[in-house]
Amino acid sequence: MKYLFLIFFMNLLPQYAGKPFSRDGNYPKTFEDIRNEIAGYYDIAKAIIDLAVYGKAQNRSYERLAVFADTIGPRLSGSKNLDAAIKYMYSALQKDGLENVHLEPVKVPHWERGEEFAMMLEPRNHSIAILGLGSSVATPPEGITAEVIVVASFDELHRRAQEAKGKIVVYNQPFISYGETVRYRSLGAVEAAKVGAVASLIRSVASFSINSPHTGWQNYQSGIPQIPTACISVEDAEMMSRMSFRGTKIVVYLKMGARTYPDSASFNTVAEIVGSKYPEQIVLVSGHLDSWDVGQGAMDDGGGAFISWEALSLIKDLGLRPKRTLRLVLWTGEEQGGIGAEQYYQLHKENISNFDIVMESDEGTFKPSGLAFTGNAKARDIVKEIMALLLPINVTEVYDAADGTDINFWMRDGVPGASLRDDLSKYFWFHHSQGDTMTVQDPNQMNLCAAVWTVVSYIIADMEEMLPR
Ligand SMILES: *[C@@H]1O[C@H](CO)[C@@H](O)[C@H](O)[C@H]1NC(C)=O
Ligand SMILES: *[C@@H]1O[C@H](CO)[C@@H](O)[C@H](O)[C@H]1NC(C)=O
Ligand SMILES: *[C@@H]1O[C@H](CO)[C@@H](O)[C@H](O)[C@H]1NC(C)=O
Ligand SMILES: *[C@@H]1O[C@H](CO)[C@@H](O)[C@H](O)[C@H]1NC(C)=O
Ligand SMILES: [Zn+2]
Repeated sequence: MKYLFLIFFMNLLPQYAGKPFSRDGNYPKTFEDIRNEIAGYYDIAKAIIDLAVYGKAQNRSYERLAVFADTIGPRLSGSKNLDAAIKYMYSALQKDGLENVHLEPVKVPHWERGEEFAMMLEPRNHSIAILGLGSSVATPPEGITAEVIVVASFDELHRRAQEAKGKIVVYNQPFISYGETVRYRSLGAVEAAKVGAVASLIRSVASFSINSPHTGWQNYQSGIPQIPTACISVEDAEMMSRMSFRGTKIVVYLKMGARTYPDSASFNTVAEIVGSKYPEQIVLVSGHLDSWDVGQGAMDDGGGAFISWEALSLIKDLGLRPKRTLRLVLWTGEEQGGIGAEQYYQLHKENISNFDIVMESDEGTFKPSGLAFTGNAKARDIVKEIMALLLPINVTEVYDAADGTDINFWMRDGVPGASLRDDLSKYFWFHHSQGDTMTVQDPNQMNLCAAVWTVVSYIIADMEEMLPR
């Protein structure tokens, strides 16, 4: 009713006189038109929230993830577990009645940690918990026994370069933020090798620790010797730092059986709800299916993958079909640097003008507060209007700059992007560690995340026009 009145009224205004009120975007819509269009989704948003948070689908993404994570376990690139996970999802998405369920082949790195062991021998025997870093080489079969030099930064390492030759470099860098501190994990071995060290042990990039090492990918550089590298717990890094500050000599024995195999066949897993009016235009929702080889990969990124699946399930359950295609992609090889996503981008970028928005949830599915968005000012205003429909669950914030290893390729080329924002206060307690299990996931929080993800992806897929870029 309100809408019909608006059309009538607008025909009286000079700028609209004589122009048919077309819903096909024949003339540029004013922001007021768009605001009204979005307000028209109030009932659908409410229905999605009711179903996901209070209704029949309550806890579904959590329950599905629990079965998956308990059955398959962790899913490192190149592993049999990841193959099993992809088969599992292919069949689950088909059983769920989604469309165009298929796998897109990708070659991914295949690294295995093998057996690993570290022991402090001086000043006293003490077993050191380690996790080798992805792509690390092994030690010789008999292991390495060497004196330790502890540094708090790359600067300190460079100042004390003379002392590092033949030693094991222990980095005890403080945790500032993941983005800032992670370079010690990715570059620690290269920097240590440049000054002649025989191995490097890196304080885990974690904001809290109960003697848990946290793994992750690291990079060698051509022309620099490849030395074995592992992460250690915050506790052991701090203890060795205290010991060395007192002038105590520290000797560590390190044995690692890590191995890199030829790249392995893997797949991005895809499912869709095909658009009713513009099926060639795509709203992409995603998370990554691969994980580290410890814990269950429930948080990173089981949660993101399963709320993305849930978005399609909820829309299907409500009997909705958006105008554009809603495409779920479960990436492979994310932890090795977005390998699956990069190939996907290369193969599909010819259709970049048809990608409306790329969305990824890969920073937890804890209590959500909103979305981080990348796009121009007009697109941001549209997303803010959409987020206002999430007021019933108070998840209305729109932050700057979406981030996701797997969607950055598209955003760099101007496609609007969104990533889920949630309470990250405990995320780096568990990240890439044995602690990343179903125990850290919460069904109520996942329900809220699924509701946000679904409302946003559905409305953007169904609006008359693609987001401006
Ligand atoms: C969903 O999970 C919450 C928290 O564990 C629980 O209280 C509730 O009963 C569950 N709902 C359903 C339908 O299982
Ligand atoms: C320390 O460990 C080494 C190697 O396992 C062992 O040979 C040695 O006896 C131990 N020393 C003490 C004091 O326990
Ligand atoms: C590009 O879009 C067209 C039209 O939807 C489709 O037929 C084609 O398969 C797409 N190409 C790729 C590489 O996805
Ligand atoms: C709503 O969310 C905001 C920001 O996330 C928070 O500060 C506020 O306390 C929340 N309000 C309610 C009623 O939950
Ligand atoms: Zn991740």
